[in-house]
Amino acid sequence: SPPAIIAPSILSADFAELGKACSDTIHQGADWLHVDIMDGHFVPNMTFGAPVVTKIRSHVERPAAAHGRGTFDCHMMIAEPKRWVRDFKKAGCDLYCFHYEAAVDSTAADSPSGTSSAKTSPKELVRFIHSEGLQAGIAIKPGTPVHVLWEILDNPVKEEVPDMVLVMTVEPGFGGQSFMADQLPKVTALRQKYPNMHIEVDGGLSEKTIDQAADAGANVIVAGSAVFGAADPGQVIKKLREAVDS
Ligand code: DX5
Ligand code: ZN
Repeated sequence: SPPAIIAPSILSADFAELGKACSDTIHQGADWLHVDIMDGHFVPNMTFGAPVVTKIRSHVERPAAAHGRGTFDCHMMIAEPKRWVRDFKKAGCDLYCFHYEAAVDSTAADSPSGTSSAKTSPKELVRFIHSEGLQAGIAIKPGTPVHVLWEILDNPVKEEVPDMVLVMTVEPGFGGQSFMADQLPKVTALRQKYPNMHIEVDGGLSEKTIDQAADAGANVIVAGSAVFGAADPGQVIKKLREAVDS
């Protein structure tokens, strides 16, 4: 697997001190910031939108290179992922990770007269995200089988292939839920097929669950409550990294 990337989820940070929380976590050793965007439709909860991302961006230095420190990893738990790509690019998002379920393949969207559909096929959405100069990620919920990703990933057209897959290890919507170990066979299957791809796990990751996720082959580790709830967040980040890189 590629080296560990630790991405604290700011969903568990103090929203009244968000800028400081973001810069603190980077100084404590985090690689990326995981930014959870929820619209109250795709998931039964709401967080914040592009204006807040614009404000917190100024507290964290832009990454020097793709996948570098300070990458804003925006996890878009929203019903209309295509609609917000440009706003989030302007706000300073680096990696736009949409949900497969929100962008289900729609033949209507691909047909010449199919402009009425709000849905875009995943590969078209990845192409659009790339054309806007962002990295693209695709996320799957616990109920979505991993095989839906094969035709998206086994595509010779590079612009249409996501840079990262996010395997949810809780039902999206809330921080602080229990890790679903039954999701890990998806990670194992992805890692077997794609030795160099970024595979992210999100939900319930902590010092207790990291070994299982690392053994399965995950390298991008999201942790919300485990990092922001810790007395020494830097120590937690270090432990998570060691578990993946050892
Ligand atoms: C859940 C979010 C996660 C969440 C993880 O919908 O996608 O990023 O913040 O929180 P923990 O690490 O506390 O499970
Ligand atoms: Zn998330």
